[in-house]
Amino acid sequence: MEETKKGRIEALLHEDRRFAPAESFTANANWKDPSIYEKASSDIFAFWEEMAQQIDWFKPWDKVFEGESPNFKWFSGAKTNVCYNCVDRHLTTWRKNKAAIIWEGEPRHSRRVLTYQDLYREVNRCAAAMKRLGVQKGDRVALYMGMIPELAISMLACARIGAPHTVVFGGFSPDALRDRINDCGAKMLITADGAWRRGNRVPLKENADEALKGCPTIDKVIVVNHCVDARDVEMEGYRDVWWHREMDRSGNTVVKPEELDAEHPLYILYTSGTTGKPKGLLHTTGGYLVGVHTTTKYVFDLKDNDTYWCAADIGWVTGHSYIVYGPLSNGATGVMYEGAPNHPHRGRFWQIIERNQVNILYTAPTAIRAFMAWGKEFPEQYDLSSLRLMGTVGEPINPEAWMWYREFIGGNKTPIVDTWWQTETGMTLITPLPGLVETKPGSATFPFPGIEADIVDESGETVPFGGGGYLVLKNPWPAMARTIWGDPERWYDQYWSRFPGMYFTGDSAKRDEDGYYWILGRVDDVLNVAGHRIGTMEVESALVSHPAVAEAAVIGISHAIKGQAIAAFTTLVSGIEGDKKLIEQLRQHVAEKIGPIARPEKLFLTHELPKTRSGKIMRRLLRDIAEGQIMSDTTTLADPGVLEQIKEQYEESGN
Ligand code: WTA
Repeated sequence: MEETKKGRIEALLHEDRRFAPAESFTANANWKDPSIYEKASSDIFAFWEEMAQQIDWFKPWDKVFEGESPNFKWFSGAKTNVCYNCVDRHLTTWRKNKAAIIWEGEPRHSRRVLTYQDLYREVNRCAAAMKRLGVQKGDRVALYMGMIPELAISMLACARIGAPHTVVFGGFSPDALRDRINDCGAKMLITADGAWRRGNRVPLKENADEALKGCPTIDKVIVVNHCVDARDVEMEGYRDVWWHREMDRSGNTVVKPEELDAEHPLYILYTSGTTGKPKGLLHTTGGYLVGVHTTTKYVFDLKDNDTYWCAADIGWVTGHSYIVYGPLSNGATGVMYEGAPNHPHRGRFWQIIERNQVNILYTAPTAIRAFMAWGKEFPEQYDLSSLRLMGTVGEPINPEAWMWYREFIGGNKTPIVDTWWQTETGMTLITPLPGLVETKPGSATFPFPGIEADIVDESGETVPFGGGGYLVLKNPWPAMARTIWGDPERWYDQYWSRFPGMYFTGDSAKRDEDGYYWILGRVDDVLNVAGHRIGTMEVESALVSHPAVAEAAVIGISHAIKGQAIAAFTTLVSGIEGDKKLIEQLRQHVAEKIGPIARPEKLFLTHELPKTRSGKIMRRLLRDIAEGQIMSDTTTLADPGVLEQIKEQYEESGN
């Protein structure tokens, strides 16, 4: 069985499979004229200026673009408001009573539909409450919730009054929440009494209480009553207020959207990097909106009568750009789902698609691989014929998963857009356009119009077609992050210093003979576990914060469903004897410090770690051991005997 599977993947990889755009797309796609690529690259600023016409501005720009790396400004001098564009402007059209958000809760029958008029009312009431509770333009607001409409409403309310939000993924620990709040100095926190996940309540309020023991900047906490009886929730006298009471108090107050500079901060989103401390990428108003509006419309070929479902979590950038801002600014109907794909059964996604007649689905390769493992009998029970386009994002998709997605979810007809991008880029940058690009399973195909990507070698020289190297971007795009909050030096060092004049993505990629891009993965110390970015240093810091641990080295190992999983090699403080129980405790410790997504899949106790003579841990050797590969160069190792020892221990542990 294993052999057949392997053989099949190889066949897929070597077979030159191509899928031409479906006829329905060549005839009707939002973009079906191939000259768009040439037109955009001949004058990228004119191109983005044209795209910007789809946004409503209170005041036009003086300049489309100014600055040089690493500081850029888009649409300087212009004034707009993202919330106005996502909500208010639809009310003067027939979309007023169109569904903006169709929400499905995890518990079986919960479901809410908000029209654009509903969204307008709720956003205004929330904005009024925030103002009443002391939030002013420029103040930061942290949002720590599950996937409930109140999260989107809060984000839009923040955008309305010009208070940048920082959404903290509901799966993060109190420590992670505290660090993020303190890094950006948030004044308010909006959270909930819980979030449903596989039938269990994630204790968001309790986590928030724990985090807030060390957050002096937080004045007020608004709590959404979602999971339990409100009387059972402990509220902190002066600090905590109920969302429903505050919304009631707001009545039908209308809060005028602030006329904000195009470069006014819209949000800060933390993501893992190569150090132990996550970095807060800052996204601003005008350019970001132009970028996400344009890509949503053309990559997903979004039409007014589509039901669109991005199944990501709003805690990550995909949810910001392609659940909230991109779709709403286009006046789309979006599905939002609270829970897990396998609760209460493994057909949950397909049931949601059938029930809502979803036309466009956007999800991650890790989810597709899980669906494959569960078997086609689950999707087969549902009518998925409404699907006309499917997307993937977050990690490289193996051709086998791509083909399975196409065959069993897309009925062998639905085109797939594999979209490459990052928290930093704000919008999709390498992706097929469904009416124009012939796809190859596993390839993100070509840069979006106006984007100049390249693959370069160590010295920054272009690698010819057929070769691989570092993925870089050579010209700016409007939705790019502007800096790392509070750390402009790191912004420069991390992205702009390695190859002068180019943005360094941290990814490696290859280009085939036809110029198609194939993303290979990270080349830095960032792991991609089930589509989530996790820094090896973050996990290492979490491990060494345990009193039993002296040193830790963390690497990524291949995992059939998650793509990558975390393996940790740990040495203990002398005098402490390790056993199975301690291993479990250490894994749990990481989950508590960061969040369950960072729990190491494997943890090994070793007497020593392989180091260079200058004391640097040689992770690549650990990677070789874990992947069962022939050792790469070991000559710089201080004590070559250490490796043999680790290898033995690793093998003894049953690997
Ligand atoms: C990876 C998620 C291959 C990549 C939007 C990138 C991908 C990192 C793809 C960013 C894709 C994202 N194919 N790899 N289609 N999309 N990646 O910031 O390594 O959470 O650098 O943004 O995910 O992850 P982030």
